[in-house]
Amino acid sequence: MHDGLSVMHGSTKGRAERYGVSMDHTFPPAASDRFPGGRLAFPHRDLTGIGHLERHEILYLLHEAQQWVELNRRSAKHAGLLSGLTIINAFFEASTRTLLSFEIAGKRLGADVVNMHAAQSSVKKGETLIDTAITLNAMRADAIVIRHGSSGATQLIADKVDCPVLNAGDGSHEHPTQALLDALALREALVRRGEDSEDFTGLTVTICGDILHSRVARSNILCLTAMGANVRVCSPPALMPAGVAAMGATPFLDFDEALAGTDVVMMLRLQTERMAGQFIPSAREYHHLYGLTSARLQQAAPDALVMHPGPMNRGVEIDSDVADMLDRSIVTQQVEMGVAIRMACLDVLTRTARGVEGWENEA
Ligand code: CP
Repeated sequence: MHDGLSVMHGSTKGRAERYGVSMDHTFPPAASDRFPGGRLAFPHRDLTGIGHLERHEILYLLHEAQQWVELNRRSAKHAGLLSGLTIINAFFEASTRTLLSFEIAGKRLGADVVNMHAAQSSVKKGETLIDTAITLNAMRADAIVIRHGSSGATQLIADKVDCPVLNAGDGSHEHPTQALLDALALREALVRRGEDSEDFTGLTVTICGDILHSRVARSNILCLTAMGANVRVCSPPALMPAGVAAMGATPFLDFDEALAGTDVVMMLRLQTERMAGQFIPSAREYHHLYGLTSARLQQAAPDALVMHPGPMNRGVEIDSDVADMLDRSIVTQQVEMGVAIRMACLDVLTRTARGVEGWENEA
């Protein structure tokens, strides 16, 4: 399963072949020399953010995920790679997509998967995050997936445990697997349209919503710019973080200006659970200025793609007729790619523990 790295063909073969994206769902993808050998392809124990990843490391995870896209489309979806391993999903915040897809990913790879919901745990009795981490570590987990409301919580836990830690979203900091699945979904949508490019060079992506509080925005800015996209971010002034330009994104306060000619529109919800005080006058006013309607979408490039990480607040940041546009919206494809990306991350990060050849040494 891991001997295949897709071949970087010449332009005649097109984007699909270069990424091992098979239009006819062949499996597994072809071998290649695109990435550094062995553990150098991804020399990290943990996945705490996109910010510390090199471009080729992002591409490697996307490449590795492709085989799981193919597997997940089959009726028999199991691979036994992680048989005998224990993965703990420790979620201190609510989740549907991320929790379920990490659980499905671990199970499809053959691991024993245990979900810890903070609401039913000893966190409710006052146990600290660090004591919780030490407890999970003592149970000899082989990987711990963490979602937490505090920025930096994942790194704090990673520093205390002996196994790989994967960030499933920490406060307003990062949500790295979301950005990776978004990149995979976007790339597949472009391939299906016959667009032939190695990465997102030349593509303009507009991210609109609560940029200030959004870990999805942060991880996506880092991921998309690393892959060569021009990234615009748009929000009301109170929800635009300082320093966004330093991350490589261009800030806009006017949604119509931000949309002009864009190839991809990624809408984000208002993160009211992270807001202390009133950041917008009203949901109605917000929709008027920043909601994606079918009329407003016409200002983007013809056939511009629409993305949303979910959960969506229909009628606030996005109208239903846009969210459900079969030829433009790739929201459900984003969810599909979430399982494949999380399978790839769990596989790659547990290779050292599993003694996979070439992955023995710490970088
Ligand atoms: N996109 C996302 O993280 O969704 P959940 O909160 O449902 O996991």
